[in-house]
Amino acid sequence: MASSINRRDWLRQTSMTALGLGISARSIATVEPSWDRIRETENGLINLGSNENPYGISPNAKQAIIDMIPWASRYSFNLDSLKDAQSTIAKYYGVTEENILLTAGSSIVLDLMPRILYKPNANIVTAEPTFFILPALSRKLGFTVNALPVGPDRGLDLPAMLSAINSDTQLVYVVNPNNPTSTYLKPAAMKNFCQEAAKKTAVLVDEAYLDFLDAPDNESMIPLAASNPNILVTRTFSKIHGMAGLRIGYIIGHPTRIQQLGQANFSESQVAISDLTLAAALASLKDEEYRAKVKQKNAAARAYTIKGLQKLNINVTPSFTNFIHFPLGNYQGDFADFMLKRNIILRNYPMAKEKWGRVSVGTMSEMQQFIKVMNETWKG
Ligand SMILES: Cc1ncc(COP(=O)(O)O)c(C=O)c1O
Repeated sequence: MASSINRRDWLRQTSMTALGLGISARSIATVEPSWDRIRETENGLINLGSNENPYGISPNAKQAIIDMIPWASRYSFNLDSLKDAQSTIAKYYGVTEENILLTAGSSIVLDLMPRILYKPNANIVTAEPTFFILPALSRKLGFTVNALPVGPDRGLDLPAMLSAINSDTQLVYVVNPNNPTSTYLKPAAMKNFCQEAAKKTAVLVDEAYLDFLDAPDNESMIPLAASNPNILVTRTFSKIHGMAGLRIGYIIGHPTRIQQLGQANFSESQVAISDLTLAAALASLKDEEYRAKVKQKNAAARAYTIKGLQKLNINVTPSFTNFIHFPLGNYQGDFADFMLKRNIILRNYPMAKEKWGRVSVGTMSEMQQFIKVMNETWKG
């Protein structure tokens, strides 16, 4: 394969100019992420509803996509720079290729797990509230979903989840940090829980937001997953890597589990991901500087927003993620609908005892706009 320099030159001379875009490939790639602007959606809204990364993808990932465009007619296994993508990602997490299944976003895995585990009378144990995809599909398939309410601190109630496991439990689904409550469990508690639960059934730990934590709290359960066939970990490039639209996630587990999942999915899983996405993912993994900056920007905008909400006497749940969970108290009506009329997309859901809102952490300017609207309108 031509070197990346050759590819870049080729591209500069052809695709961009041929497309009449009037901009060079390099000019797109070297554009710094705009760290502090309002990024409205196509219809002029500020989208704080899906926990996306507001800063865009890493500049290195952008460059990798541009460099890959000329090769997009090839399958990734025919490209030197991509044929080992799966093992490169595995290696990054200290496991082998046999331990990983790449999917077009981790939602695929959340859909796949209940499908392969279903049997009549089976149940799934999880928390309430938690990320909806796996519990919702499980109910549709006919599982009983035993969703244990979060505690008064809105954290997952691990002892209750552990005692809820019975001989019909096919899976325990733990999201850590949890979406939507933004709480997290310390590594020691998680390890203990996984090991105990795995004596009885399969455990899937969803670490979509773990990258937003600092060491030592950002310790993954991946090492347990690699050795214990009953423990699995799923992660995604959609959050800190900012690649939600590029669609890549993965599950890590014991080779027997990964084989079982791969057969149900598509055994050549790497072919299920586009060349452009694979190239971006590999470049993004290497760009630790970008991720550190995202984390720092996220923490600053999050602290600002939490302070702003607290000034309105809102009892915000401490957040360890890129979103903030807060109770709506006696708020009457549909809060998300109210905010939408003010051009801000966020979420609200009923919980067992109270209504709550969830706002994703956008750029500082976006959060300033959110707090401005809150200051003007919040009546508690
Ligand atoms: C906890 C959790 N897991 C998984 C996902 C899905 O991510 P992906 O884009 O990889 O499908 C999300 C998305 O918001 C999430 O919140």
